[in-house]
Amino acid sequence: RFVKAPPDTYVRVGPKGYVLFKGFLNDAPKIYNFSLRPDDIWVVTFPKSGTTWVQELVWMVANDCDYEGSDKTPLTTRYPFLESNVDICDKKPSPRFIKTHLPLSLLPPALLNTCKVVHVARDPRDVAVSYYHHNTKTTDVGYKIEMKQLWNLFINDQCDGMDSLTLKMSRRSWAMRHHPNMLFLFYEDLLKDLPSAVKQVAKFLGKTMTEEQISRLCTHLSFDNFKNNKSVNGQVLIEANYSTGNLFVNKGKSGAWREYFDEEMKLQATKWMEDNLRDSDLTFSNE
Ligand code: A3P
Repeated sequence: RFVKAPPDTYVRVGPKGYVLFKGFLNDAPKIYNFSLRPDDIWVVTFPKSGTTWVQELVWMVANDCDYEGSDKTPLTTRYPFLESNVDICDKKPSPRFIKTHLPLSLLPPALLNTCKVVHVARDPRDVAVSYYHHNTKTTDVGYKIEMKQLWNLFINDQCDGMDSLTLKMSRRSWAMRHHPNMLFLFYEDLLKDLPSAVKQVAKFLGKTMTEEQISRLCTHLSFDNFKNNKSVNGQVLIEANYSTGNLFVNKGKSGAWREYFDEEMKLQATKWMEDNLRDSDLTFSNE
């Protein structure tokens, strides 16, 4: 059933729930009972939604634009990935920055009442296209398949973690968007108006920034600079032979799905989004 790896590599959490790596089960209790600290800042997103971009934005604002610190230490170390590094995250000195692709329901129940949480949502059609590019660059077995095949797995609940999870996860965070510890961002809004996003993050973290600081940070976060920034662009993964190209900075546009989707896929997408967003007022401006 699964293309990427043998089916027993994956597990479904809950009867209609998320499809995740089976290895997750080993760490699931540790993650659920993870010891939270009030000064933790979490970025909780679905993969390929602009996670890396927002991690760097949040880290820079929280650290008073420490360009030297950002340059010196890769983002993967400054902002470790919970699912792969739960013990490292646990031992990290405060203030901790934690990235996760898990939905709120699989994270410590007190997370939102204890820590700051930033969620970035992105049009799931662009997420699927971005994931397609991601897979062409990874050196593991990967979904070495055409976009249309990947999309069919995606909407038919047959892709590890890549099916309706993207909407389930964003729906859940969206429902919590008014919680004082939740900042809900859209990738498309960052593309349109990055300075406003920086201001939103600064307000959320209780930081004051001058227009000059904001402008310099936006230059640092701009697509071209980001693409060439070895601290954030996934260079460490190339060096570790995990990927053959830059995994986290690819095209940096919205609406790429239009080039990749034929009429059938477009219709499928509309229906699939309607089905999965029923009873929610979450919408994507990219319609
Ligand atoms: P594309 O593949 O559509 O280009 P994640 O970090 O969650 O894996 O998300 C990766 C996506 O964010 C990629 O999308 C990548 O290009 C985009 N991205 C990363 N940095 C960006 C930046 N500075 N500006 C715009 N998009 C960026």
